[in-house]
Amino acid sequence: DDLVTRMKNIEMIELGRHRIRPWYFAPYPQLLVDFQEMVNLPCIYICEFCLKYRKSKKCLERHLVKCKLKHPPGNEIYRKGSISFFEIDGRKNKCYAQNLCLLAKLFLDHKTLYYDTDPFLFYVMTEFDSRGFHIVGYFSKEKESTEDYNVACILTLPPYQRKGYGKLLIEFSYELSKFEGKTGSPEKPLSDLGLLSYRSYWAQTILDILMHSKPVGDNEKPIITINEICELTSIKKEDVISTLQNLNLINYYKGQYIISVNKETIQQHDKAMEKRMLRIDPKCLHWTPKD
Ligand code: COA
Ligand code: NA
Repeated sequence: DDLVTRMKNIEMIELGRHRIRPWYFAPYPQLLVDFQEMVNLPCIYICEFCLKYRKSKKCLERHLVKCKLKHPPGNEIYRKGSISFFEIDGRKNKCYAQNLCLLAKLFLDHKTLYYDTDPFLFYVMTEFDSRGFHIVGYFSKEKESTEDYNVACILTLPPYQRKGYGKLLIEFSYELSKFEGKTGSPEKPLSDLGLLSYRSYWAQTILDILMHSKPVGDNEKPIITINEICELTSIKKEDVISTLQNLNLINYYKGQYIISVNKETIQQHDKAMEKRMLRIDPKCLHWTPKD
């Protein structure tokens, strides 16, 4: 069983105008018959809007004649320029949610697949053009998390990776937490790529806060506490502390711990922020937390 779950079983997927080579195994139900015969499937064809999958291009074409969707199901809760976010309830749109999890599993090694999508909300990010709202990536989130998780799984589809969309998804997840008035953290364990992306997001977000905080009262230097950083960013305390440590910003000075940022770090940060073109605009979020 262990061997089976590790083997890649699908050579290629076709999703809209993309052909993508999967990274890992995903248990696509009807297709498993072929898998048991140890035949890898050369390609599966996925409807880019409803995420239903077919064994052949012909079958998908028949599906596309009937499928009227031009965007993910659920509510569009954010739109700015060509970027939108749709909120999908895993209970109300079970079929879509399960198909999204299957698609994501092709690029996730370590997460167990949730067939029970009821406890999750899914936030699907799309890019709009004349043909519709095309899926770029998503994250899932437990409706209720006892451990303050604000993200369960997060994925940027490979054709869109390394362009800043991952950090845009992360930024959006923290905007939701800000609206909820909570701090949050991604579910563990994170993949290597997940950790890289989060570390980069945390570092930039915290440095930005540090640079924009103003001196209080008679102090020459701004004073900000770790709790205040948490409140302003919705980043959980452990993650704030580990980020400050990774950046080497916590120093012991005249008998107390202080956060100090040197010129070089500031310059590097400014450069990185100039490159970060994709940002969430909180004014474009139309959403109220459910409870
Ligand atoms: N190698 C080195 N660095 C990488 C990288 C790679 N392959 N992919 C991303 N990064 C770094 C980027 O350099 C960037 O940091 P920087 O801005 O400081 O340079 C940061 O990670 C985020 O990049 P970004 O373009 O915003 O992310 P992305 O759209 O590529 O998405 C993931 C990041 C994690 C969502 C994406 O890699 C993914 O979907 N992976 C598969 C699923 C997964 O592992 N999810 C996380 C666990 S649930
Ligand atoms: Na999931």
